[in-house]
Amino acid sequence: MDTNTFREHAHRVVDWMADYLDGVEAHPVRSQVKPGEIAAQLPASAPEEGEPFEALLADVERIVLPGITHWQHPSFFAFFPANSSPPSLLAEMLTATFGAQCMMWQTSPAATELETRVLDWLRQLLGLPESFVGSIQDSASTATLCALLVARERATGWQANDQGLAGLVGAPSRLAIYTSAEAHSSIEKGARIAGFGADNVRKIPTDAAFAMRPDALAAAIAADRAAGVVPTCCVATFGTTGVGAVDPIAGVAEVCRREDVYLHVDAAWAGAALILPELQALLEGVEAVDSFVMNAHKWLLTNFDCSAHWVRDPDALVRTLGILPAYLRSRETGTVIDYRDWSVPLGRRFRALKLWFVLRSYGAERLREKIRGDMALLGELAAWIEADPAFEITSPPSFALLTFRWTPDGVDDPEEVDARNGRLVDAINDDGRIYLTPTTVAGRKVIRFQVGQTRTERRHVEAGWAVVREIAARIAAGIH
Ligand SMILES: Cc1ncc(COP(=O)(O)O)c(C=O)c1O
Repeated sequence: MDTNTFREHAHRVVDWMADYLDGVEAHPVRSQVKPGEIAAQLPASAPEEGEPFEALLADVERIVLPGITHWQHPSFFAFFPANSSPPSLLAEMLTATFGAQCMMWQTSPAATELETRVLDWLRQLLGLPESFVGSIQDSASTATLCALLVARERATGWQANDQGLAGLVGAPSRLAIYTSAEAHSSIEKGARIAGFGADNVRKIPTDAAFAMRPDALAAAIAADRAAGVVPTCCVATFGTTGVGAVDPIAGVAEVCRREDVYLHVDAAWAGAALILPELQALLEGVEAVDSFVMNAHKWLLTNFDCSAHWVRDPDALVRTLGILPAYLRSRETGTVIDYRDWSVPLGRRFRALKLWFVLRSYGAERLREKIRGDMALLGELAAWIEADPAFEITSPPSFALLTFRWTPDGVDDPEEVDARNGRLVDAINDDGRIYLTPTTVAGRKVIRFQVGQTRTERRHVEAGWAVVREIAARIAAGIH
């Protein structure tokens, strides 16, 4: 494809993109295809001869589109949002056009220097300490893995990377990680990858607000010390996935500092809300945190992937991940930032560009309005749920997330109520007008409802709640 043909197709594709976004509400939110339906339409091997672009675009509409779950649909209330926005999309187009591998300063100085600056802008907006230095990772899972690796190295006198955990001479055989019982699965996954082992992840009990209890953390650390296990890393969560709980950073940090335990904060989703000055009190104690991650790609209008990761001691991160074969040396090595030493993969996309576009296009105040607006809508939803005796709120609004449970009339057995809630969420998602996901609270099946998509307005939340009630009533009447 020469550049003239590319230009022609690119204009068509941009029109297609704009039409898609304008018309996204016409699609069912969750893809309605059955497993294997898409694969059945794809040839078993690649074509020998190239095909015209028209055929490709036609198959996007015919084959791909039905298999897309529309995360940009304004009635997407499932999981957490994966915000996208026009400025972010435009930056992604430029990033793809440069096609640069931004692993070292020299391989695109603009990518490196923009990343440093834009992460410092975001640090200031979120109210994080001046000493924090940032980089962009592909995901919060990766940032947490980096934290676990640094903590592992620190706890083993920087020996595990060289000798391997099994080979450590005279070292303790077990290193423990602490996180709340509500924490995201990426922590346990990181513990497996980093060699701690899932059995050495202590799930610290939570209080009535589902937040980690610092006294229980201290007790778990003491028990480990008594058993000869080395307390190594604690991961506190700012906005848990299930219910949006916030671990008390100050209380957790105090225990970690006293016990010399590395402290990482996973603020993957709710970190974006820190852009609001009125929420700054939740950050109390953050100066003592060793690292912090939030996803601009969740609730800050920036396309996946853009995970902002700050560390208090970048030298420790580089000491853990840095490796310098001859083919990666450059004249500037040691005098500039080479972000390849800050992340697990060597290759890096130019991700700072989209965050730069988003922050500049909207400005901080517009972003604050968006987050405040979503939280206000969620508050309205909570009032509607409270007013309906057929439903109960099972975890209160936290930022822009709550959970609720259908409590059908005349059904007392909790197992049966669980089953009905399972049926309800499946029926809602098969219906396609909205998309919700289940979780458990206190061992019982509940339904999550989060507000945060780029284009969600009050009318979508109102209609979404009406869909829940309508489908519950149909199930209760035996129609479903
Ligand atoms: C609290 C929390 N941490 C981590 C993650 C994982 O994020 P990522 O997909 O960026 O790895 C999620 C995902 O929703 C999350 O809710």
